[in-house]
Amino acid sequence: MNKTSNIARFIPLSVPSLKGNELKYVSECIETEWISSAGKYVERFESLLAGYLGAESCVAVSNGTAALHLALICAGVKNGEEVFAPSITFIAPVNAIKYAGAHPVFVDCDDHLNMSAESLSAFIEKNCVYKNKKLINKKTLRRISAIIPVHIFGNPADMPAIMEIARKYGLKVIEDATESLGSYYITGPYKGMKTGTIGDYGCFSFNGNKIITTGGGGMLTCKKKSDADFARYLSTQAKDDALNYVHDNVGYNYRLTNIQAALGCAQLEKLESYIEIKRKNFKLYQKLLSKLFSKFSGFSLITEPEYSFSNYWFYSLLTDPGVIEKSELITRLKTMGIEARPLWYPNHLQKPYRKEPRCTMKKTMHYFERIVNIPCSVNLTDADIRLVCESIIEKVG
Ligand SMILES: Cc1ncc(COP(=O)(O)O)c(C=O)c1O
Repeated sequence: MNKTSNIARFIPLSVPSLKGNELKYVSECIETEWISSAGKYVERFESLLAGYLGAESCVAVSNGTAALHLALICAGVKNGEEVFAPSITFIAPVNAIKYAGAHPVFVDCDDHLNMSAESLSAFIEKNCVYKNKKLINKKTLRRISAIIPVHIFGNPADMPAIMEIARKYGLKVIEDATESLGSYYITGPYKGMKTGTIGDYGCFSFNGNKIITTGGGGMLTCKKKSDADFARYLSTQAKDDALNYVHDNVGYNYRLTNIQAALGCAQLEKLESYIEIKRKNFKLYQKLLSKLFSKFSGFSLITEPEYSFSNYWFYSLLTDPGVIEKSELITRLKTMGIEARPLWYPNHLQKPYRKEPRCTMKKTMHYFERIVNIPCSVNLTDADIRLVCESIIEKVG
């Protein structure tokens, strides 16, 4: 039995809302018996998302991790090379680097929890040499060939600075926009552009906890159509002759199904309203927690960077261990039926990656010790948010 079963209302961290045309579109797939990896919804989802993002091409895939893996292959990342990635992120992009046979180089975060361009450039200046248009890690003697900035919790990373570094050192850029669908830049060289459309590749996830979901699913955006064609080919087991099943490359089974794409089309119709709700709820949290913030200066909510408009997928509460340990707060909220989570365990400390190169992890450890994510589903009511805030204030004491 769930430990919270004696509590009147359980408020989960992030659950989907499927109250639009989901059932209608999925029923159509079942009625017409187009349920697998071909069908009108796959193409429709790809073209609707490309239109929404303003992206050249979109390739629907089985999940965000598959999109990252295909992007790394399309980027030409080779066995034994290195790729810059954040330590603070869900581990998927780091694992995808490993699938490509490469090594992550972990970068510290900034005050929005995103990859720090300052940390990235300090690492390059101190530890790398740029020779014959190749960036080499002086210690490992391996070539560094790409960067994966992640737009953490929906907040856009500092792409102008990251793109400048990428151009200077000939690095490919794969944006992990799995959490930031709909977020965009409001100032600077990418003003008006959405996350996932700035680098060479953009990767999206439609996992159940994301701002829109297909149950499980992903999308890859490519700047070049030839890359999108190659990714699509690799995602369908690299069939060079579809009749005789001739394969000139090692392929993958990474395609999205028509049923998942049908869900995606229905969810996409709701995306703008979901973003509006997420932003409105963030403001309400900010207002209701302001008492706490003025009492304890170490507490605040992580806000969108000033240069951007965030989809506010997740709400990150910065806490103060001098007042309460984050684990203590999470446990206390659980007794009230409120689900909260710490930040992911830093990737440079994860067992498979402890020996990989890294920058100095000052901010990563600071935020890891302090962040608590609080409920953010689009179906939260104002009363839910009030209850969460009152509980936080009461539990912090
Ligand atoms: C930052 C980040 N990258 C990649 C992924 C992987 O996406 P998926 O679970 O669809 O493989 C996720 C989420 O699940 C994520 O949060």
